[in-house]
Amino acid sequence: MGSIERSVRRASQLVSEADRVVVLTGAGVSAESGVPTFRGTEGLWRRYRPEELATPEAFSHDPKLVWEWYDWRRQLVSECHPNAAHTAIAASAIQRGTLQVLTQNVDGLHSRAALSSAADLGLDPSPGLPLELHGSLFRARCVSCGSRLDLQGAAAHDHVDNEGIPRCEGCGEMLRPDIVWFGEALDRSVLDAAFEVASQADLCLVVGTSALVQPTASLPGVTRSGGGRVIEVNPESTPVSAIADVSLRSSAASVVPLLFDGRELSGS
Ligand code: OAD
Repeated sequence: MGSIERSVRRASQLVSEADRVVVLTGAGVSAESGVPTFRGTEGLWRRYRPEELATPEAFSHDPKLVWEWYDWRRQLVSECHPNAAHTAIAASAIQRGTLQVLTQNVDGLHSRAALSSAADLGLDPSPGLPLELHGSLFRARCVSCGSRLDLQGAAAHDHVDNEGIPRCEGCGEMLRPDIVWFGEALDRSVLDAAFEVASQADLCLVVGTSALVQPTASLPGVTRSGGGRVIEVNPESTPVSAIADVSLRSSAASVVPLLFDGRELSGS
């Protein structure tokens, strides 16, 4: 047995022994679905300067441009599909009921995986739905009253003004993407819930994040400080590697399904 097989076997054992599991994901979990990561050579931020588009100042200056960029990204991810990593995580969350997904991604792929896995299994999708730490491409939020609008359907187009900016149905003010922008704080209740589950977890599985953006990057350390284990899946080394019990230098779609199905490894 090679060292990668040994590491996968060890990680798979930790996953099956753990009672409460938290799975923290970043852009890398969606890379094999065709969604660009943020910081890679093909990363989104390479082609667009974030300070031009993903800030409150940019939105005040040119809301139409910011909406066009988010509409383009929403369209891009709508054409992508959950990969084997999203599906394995969702199926395990739905079957166990004690696995919480925390994601920095705004692409909605964990939710889509949860809905289709639940349909396949004939179970409730709720345990598979992620806490979306950085918001969602599929929601807008009123800049004034805070009401939210689901952008999945045709609803967004029903509320667009002459300038092409969606407006709040309630108060008529501008809607903005429901995304955490540079210089903004994460939603307090979402963050508190994330730290709570990380502190209670026996295991934190960290998949496809550079772990450079705080406060999310400190969540694996919270599990570790509480006596839990940490597994990392990432082709590259990250700050999480230093505290991980097992680091799997593999792609998410190739290795994550193996962690949730130890039988595939028996005899290897
Ligand atoms: P990054 O682009 O910073 O990091 C992606 C990570 O995924 C890197 O560490 C890659 O090595 C790894 N990776 C690439 N392909 C992979 C694969 N197939 N399988 C597994 N891992 C792979 O993205 P994030 O860490 O998600 O925040 O970035 C965090 C936050 O930074 C984003 O949510 C965004 C950005 O600022 C906001 O927009 C608020």
